[in-house]
Amino acid sequence: MTASRNTQTPAVRFSQRAGRTHEPPISWLMKYALDHPDCISLAAGFVDAATLPVQIVKECVDELMASPASGRAALQYGTTIGYPPLRRQIAQRLADSDGMTAASHGFDADHVMVTTGSQQLLFLASDVLLDPGDIVVLGAPSYFVYMGILQSMGAVVRSVPVDGDGMDMEALADTLAAIEAEGKLDRLKLIYVVSYYQNPMGVSMSADRRPHVVELAKKYSAKAGRRIFVLEDAAYKELRFSDDSPALPPIKKFDPTNEWVLFAGTFCKPFSAGMKTGFGILPDAILDPVLRQKGNHDFGSANLNQMVISRAIERGSYDQHVRKVRAGYAAKKQVMADGIRRYFPPQTKWHDPAGGLYIWAELPESVCTSPGSPYFKAALERGVLYVPSEHFYYPDSGSPACRSGMRLSFGVASPEQVADGIKRLGQLACEMLKTPAAAK
Ligand SMILES: Cc1ncc(COP(=O)(O)O)c(C=O)c1O
Repeated sequence: MTASRNTQTPAVRFSQRAGRTHEPPISWLMKYALDHPDCISLAAGFVDAATLPVQIVKECVDELMASPASGRAALQYGTTIGYPPLRRQIAQRLADSDGMTAASHGFDADHVMVTTGSQQLLFLASDVLLDPGDIVVLGAPSYFVYMGILQSMGAVVRSVPVDGDGMDMEALADTLAAIEAEGKLDRLKLIYVVSYYQNPMGVSMSADRRPHVVELAKKYSAKAGRRIFVLEDAAYKELRFSDDSPALPPIKKFDPTNEWVLFAGTFCKPFSAGMKTGFGILPDAILDPVLRQKGNHDFGSANLNQMVISRAIERGSYDQHVRKVRAGYAAKKQVMADGIRRYFPPQTKWHDPAGGLYIWAELPESVCTSPGSPYFKAALERGVLYVPSEHFYYPDSGSPACRSGMRLSFGVASPEQVADGIKRLGQLACEMLKTPAAAK
């Protein structure tokens, strides 16, 4: 028997932050995909289930549980900042892969904090810096879950366009100058950049733009008389398709004193999303405040997961796995790119990514791709889901939203599904262009 609700019970008065926190724009798309298993979802940004490292994790867990002492250590709480061997491995790996040393870059394991996914680092870093009304600059389009954090914190967002080389540097410089001219520099706290194979466009910030971001942060910090940080979100860094082209240095590399760049990384994309383990490499000035806030959140991410990842790295199986994952995504990306070339209208603007999980395609403006548009509805009828481009633009942030584009993910779908889904979406766009009235 269910108790009947007392109509006299007063309504809940939520916090202002809860009032500013909305459902993510694509949660209904995810639900639709679950409710319609026959539908080809090119919408979800999930990693490919077929690549998940079941055997490696089993072996690592078996090793950890082989003795009561190591088993108990793994099953106990850890520290807030994270498992020391994993923190050392993280610092060493970033340094080794990108030609940095602790001496040259002012960071070591002491500056590494393990978090519950890199999402938690994005949240905590923003939480310790932002009061309502504080300003964050980011690219348009941008990662919408981070935009959700900013909205909930009451931040003011100023966006600058992203092109095939990442954030447009002239537009960034203009935006910072405009904030200064408006007398609001003291409210500017962060420049947020997804530096590798960005979500949603799949593009990376080019090598020559990277030092420039740090220079701008320093220049305007000096004018503001307080520090403006660069928040480098490198969630897709390890998903580079090929070693043929030189690896891009992290923006962090251009911060040799470890004062300006907060680096966020993750094991979720290259290894296991379900282990939900990420990390931050942080300047001294912000490390303790973020750590205290993490203490309030969860006083430490899952110790068992950290030990498993550390062991996989130590055994070499982590790197072997990442090589396989990269090859798998490279192959699926190729299927998607070939399909776009073959079936999408020739006027389509898109970038061929060198890593990550996404391709961004902009159809001619006459084809609206928004939710509820004829194109979107017809795509659903033909059994294909994509994420409409307009979801990736922060409202009223200075950059007009593209309404004729889509984010297409080759993460979860099989190569056959990718090929089929792209063919259906491309043919549909061509049909709509032939009958323009139908596309409105
Ligand atoms: C750009 C970007 N940053 C951060 C994250 C967070 O990833 P996680 O918390 O799983 O490490 C994601 C997840 O999709 C992302 O796309």
